[in-house]
This record gives sequence, structure tokens and C-alpha cells, in this order.
Amino acid sequence: MPEGTTQERETAGKIRAADVPAHVGVIMDGNGRWAASRGLPRIEGHRRGVEALRAAVRAALDFGLDYLTVYSFSVENWSRPVEEVTDLMGLLKRFIRNDLKELHKVGVRVRIIGVRESLSPDIRALLDEAEDLTRDNTRMTLVVAFNYGSRQEIAGAARAIARKVAQGLIDPETIDEQCFASYLDTAGIPDPDLIIRTSGEQRLSNFLLWQAAYAEFVFLPLHWPDFDRQAFASALTEFASRERRFGGVGSPSKKQRFLDRILP
Ligand code: IPE
Ligand code: IPE
Ligand code: MG
Repeated sequence: MPEGTTQERETAGKIRAADVPAHVGVIMDGNGRWAASRGLPRIEGHRRGVEALRAAVRAALDFGLDYLTVYSFSVENWSRPVEEVTDLMGLLKRFIRNDLKELHKVGVRVRIIGVRESLSPDIRALLDEAEDLTRDNTRMTLVVAFNYGSRQEIAGAARAIARKVAQGLIDPETIDEQCFASYLDTAGIPDPDLIIRTSGEQRLSNFLLWQAAYAEFVFLPLHWPDFDRQAFASALTEFASRERRFGGVGSPSKKQRFLDRILP
């Protein structure tokens, strides 16, 4: 979002910052280490991770976000032991079965991004059901990146465009950023303003590579099951203190103005 068009939002005193991002992407990492550090099996970390996800959605609604994108399973995660993959698929199914009604009730629209074709029919049906039921909701969009890989998404978009060029339906000269973005899974969704990753790792791991061109990044040292409202608020506060420039010269005093506002 270009400087100057960032919406100023009141957040009911939950955080002091005024600049709440419209779209936050979250790389929910560290479930396994959270469990291991407690002598628990990795699945227990994933279970607690689902609880943290529920709380994150509630907080995002309270903070007034328009979009929350959560990275829940990457195309590379198939390389994990088969038992863990089975557990993760089971948790997704349970999450949708248990939480879909409530999400719908509170006005959340669900969008799924990632490769659908290679998923089992029951999971595909659940994903379709979640999108269909909540299609017209407007309070917030929860984008679930499941079996998602950004490079695969970009290659898929290139393939789809190439097909249309070969059929004479698209003139290659008309392919610009906007055209390309409309072939990504995230078509119609604004780019993330902020990407949060838990677990201390500082990498994207194939998440929203195209879309994150001008995102701010916040890396938190805690593991995903420990990500709570407070941690979310602190990431948003950090975001609010950043000066986004989008390649321009920006307004150098913005950070100072923010600090002046929040420091006694
Ligand atoms: C994130 O936690 C959940 C998924 C990737 C599905 P991890 O399972 O990656 O936990 P760590 O990084 O091994 O601790
Ligand atoms: C990224 O975490 C994927 C998800 C959170 C779903 P990983 O744990 O798979 O990433 P790497 O392997 O540490 O890069
Ligand atoms: Mg991990």
C-alpha cells in the first residue's frame, strides 16, 4: 500500500499505534521445538499450534485487520515423516470441521491458497465447503496457505499465461505486474503489509515471495504455540514504528513522530 494511503485505525486502546496493517501474513513456525523442549511429541506442538491459531484469528478481528494469511503447510512439508504429515492433515480437517461455523458466524471469509489437486478428496471437499460457506462474509478474510509454495504458484501463473498466449488470447506485450498477479492464487487479495514469523528463524521458506515485495518483517523469538495476543500486539506496534518508503524518499520524521507519541 503506497505511503499516504495507509489507513489510520483506532484499536480501542489495545495497542497504542495508529497504523494497523490491513494484511498480516504469519509463518506459524516452531511447533516441533515447542513440544521437544517439554519432552512432548511433535503432534502435541501442532495441537497447541491450532489453539494459538484460533486465538490469533480472534485477536486479528479485534485489532481490525482486513486480511490474515496463515502458513499452515508448505509443499516442502511433504518431506516430513509420514506420521507427522498424517497428523497435520488430520488437524486441518478437525480445524475446519470444528471452527468453520464459528468463523462464519463472526463474519470471516475463508480463502485457501496452494495446490489443491494433489490433496485427498475429503480435504479438498472441506476446503471447498469453507470457501463456499463464507464467500460473502466481509468482516475479515482468513487466507489459509495449505500445501502452498510460492515458487510453484509463480510457475503455475506463468504456465497459465503461456497457455493463453499460445492460444492467441493474450498479447505478451500486455503482461504487466497487475496481469501477472491476477494469475496467482492470491488474485484480488492486497499484498501483505507485515509478515510475522515465530520461532526465531529469519527466512520466508517459500511464502508469498511475489506478494511480499514491500512487506515489513517481524521475527519473534517465541515458538508458535506461545504466540498470544500480546505477542501479536507487539508485532503490530513494531510495524507501526516502521517507515515504509516503497522506493520513494518517504517522510523521515514519521518514526520520530511515532516515538514522540508513544514515549512519555
Ligand atoms: C510449524 O512448526 C508447523 C508446520 C510447519 C506445519 P514446525 O513443525 O516447523 O516446528 P519446528 O520448526 O520443527 O520447531
Ligand atoms: C514454514 O516452516 C512452513 C510453515 C510454517 C507451514 P518450516 O518449518 O517448514 O520451514 P523451514 O523448513 O524451517 O524453512
Ligand atoms: Mg519449522
